[in-house]
Amino acid sequence: MAGRLVTLLTIVVICMCNDSVLTQPSKPNIVMILLDDVGWNDVGWNNKHIKTPTLTKLANDGLILNQSYTQPVCSPSRASLMTGRYPHNVYMDDSTPLGRDAAEGLDLGLELLPQKLKKAGYSTHATGKWHLGFCDWKYTPTERGFDSFYGHYLASNDYYTHKSGRGLDLWFNRQSVKDKDGVYDTNLWSDRAVDVIENHDVTNPLFLYVAYNAAHSPYQAPQDVINSYPPIADKDRRTLAAMMSVVDEGVANITKALEKKNMMNNTLLVLLSDNGGVPSAGNNWPLRGRKGGFYEGGIRTPGFVYGGLLRRKGVVAQGLMHLSDWAPTLLTIAGVDISDETFDGSDQTRVVLDGGASTRTDIIHYLASSSPGGVIRSGDWKLIIGKSRQVGWDEDPFDNPTPTKGSSKDRRQAGQGRPATGGDRIQLYNIKEDPTEKSNLASQYPSIVRRLRSKLITAHKTKTAVPEVVTTTAGHPPIFKGVWSPGWCVGGSNGEAATLVNTDPVVG
Ligand SMILES: *[C@@H]1O[C@H](CO)[C@@H](O)[C@H](O)[C@H]1NC(C)=O
Ligand SMILES: *[C@@H]1O[C@H](CO)[C@@H](O)[C@H](O)[C@H]1NC(C)=O
Ligand SMILES: *[C@@H]1O[C@H](CO)[C@@H](O)[C@H](O)[C@H]1NC(C)=O
Repeated sequence: MAGRLVTLLTIVVICMCNDSVLTQPSKPNIVMILLDDVGWNDVGWNNKHIKTPTLTKLANDGLILNQSYTQPVCSPSRASLMTGRYPHNVYMDDSTPLGRDAAEGLDLGLELLPQKLKKAGYSTHATGKWHLGFCDWKYTPTERGFDSFYGHYLASNDYYTHKSGRGLDLWFNRQSVKDKDGVYDTNLWSDRAVDVIENHDVTNPLFLYVAYNAAHSPYQAPQDVINSYPPIADKDRRTLAAMMSVVDEGVANITKALEKKNMMNNTLLVLLSDNGGVPSAGNNWPLRGRKGGFYEGGIRTPGFVYGGLLRRKGVVAQGLMHLSDWAPTLLTIAGVDISDETFDGSDQTRVVLDGGASTRTDIIHYLASSSPGGVIRSGDWKLIIGKSRQVGWDEDPFDNPTPTKGSSKDRRQAGQGRPATGGDRIQLYNIKEDPTEKSNLASQYPSIVRRLRSKLITAHKTKTAVPEVVTTTAGHPPIFKGVWSPGWCVGGSNGEAATLVNTDPVVG
């Protein structure tokens, strides 16, 4: 396999285009598209009601990743993707997003995937959502390995005003962008991605990170796209479907741009979600649970790979993967020697390019504050120790527009779950036999519980402490001329907390 990879990486494609000789770089281009809060049943290849013809075609012509795992919320997932580590090993909680008022960010002692790719000769560009810290400029994308960034730092922004609360949050590198009021953000990120591709000097390899805000709340989409869906009682579900259709058009534009520039043959395009859906706008059917929790619906998310690099196409890859695998995998594909690197993930080239077997058997999904609390997957088994929300299973309002089981609000509440009154403290599921987690087998298989529990205990011994975080109004928009802006903390490294600074407002 190593021999084949080397051959692949040293091929230099020369083509005659418009009378000029374009030399394709020997290192492949990587286009990483990350969706937000898009659950198992929110994509066209899993749900016929969701109109994403381009995504469905790319998934079916590429490789569908059937066991692609994430963390249950935005920031920890993004941290894993960028570092190749579990959040609990990089000073973060596995299930808590960064707050708007918190002086914190992804630890500055870490070298991120774009920094490593940049060292390997890549042009690196990011567009869309960041959500890995912004109180110090050092936390922001252009100081963490990206040549350019067009997007926003926070979560839950308005798709048209680009505001979080009353403050603007739209940036092009170090400049706030004030002239895009009223333009739907999925169009902004797609257009930016196309622009990067069109202006890309193909003698360098490209790493393009497109982190769509869709389909996170607030649920907003162009009215004509919403109208193209059948009216259903659940207004948010219908809007979310429309949000996915606009993403689909954006990805179509991106793939067309790659093809037009003759880059697709030498590109690995990856599409993932950062965590599961939020019922009832989002939908994780048939999986159990939701965003924020550790049942499969919160962490097993839709994904595929596509492009000229694939050695097998049109199949479903069953190999177990976690977000922390992407850094080692992509660096390997980029020809970077990772033998001296520390990752929790591993090189999954065989899953991603061949649809082959996984190099991992275990995923530590979660470590609670005290041992042995947590969630672990090992082989086909999954053990949950600790208080877990007693959440159930979604039904899709598109399939069942007039639900018999209560109102849309009831369903939403059922999906959101209630505190675990009566929820079992120890739960064991066989994910292969029972992917929807219906039968807790803990009492039948005590030796498996013991074996997985001891793995959790071992992981607890080396997890990193989460620094004490200061919450403040120091970064609020009124202090920075109406913009959510960096400049009010000094970021921390190697587990130190960020500290507040007294700064003069800098943003105009
Ligand atoms: C994906 O995995 C699920 C659960 O393990 C399984 O039921 C399903 O058949 C798989 N899908 C495909 C297309 O292989
Ligand atoms: C896709 O490209 C077309 C043509 O340039 C443009 O009108 C449309 O807004 C783009 N769609 C998205 C979602 O960016
Ligand atoms: C990709 O390569 C194949 C085989 O060499 C060729 O037929 C095809 O036209 C190429 N496509 C693009 C978009 O360059």
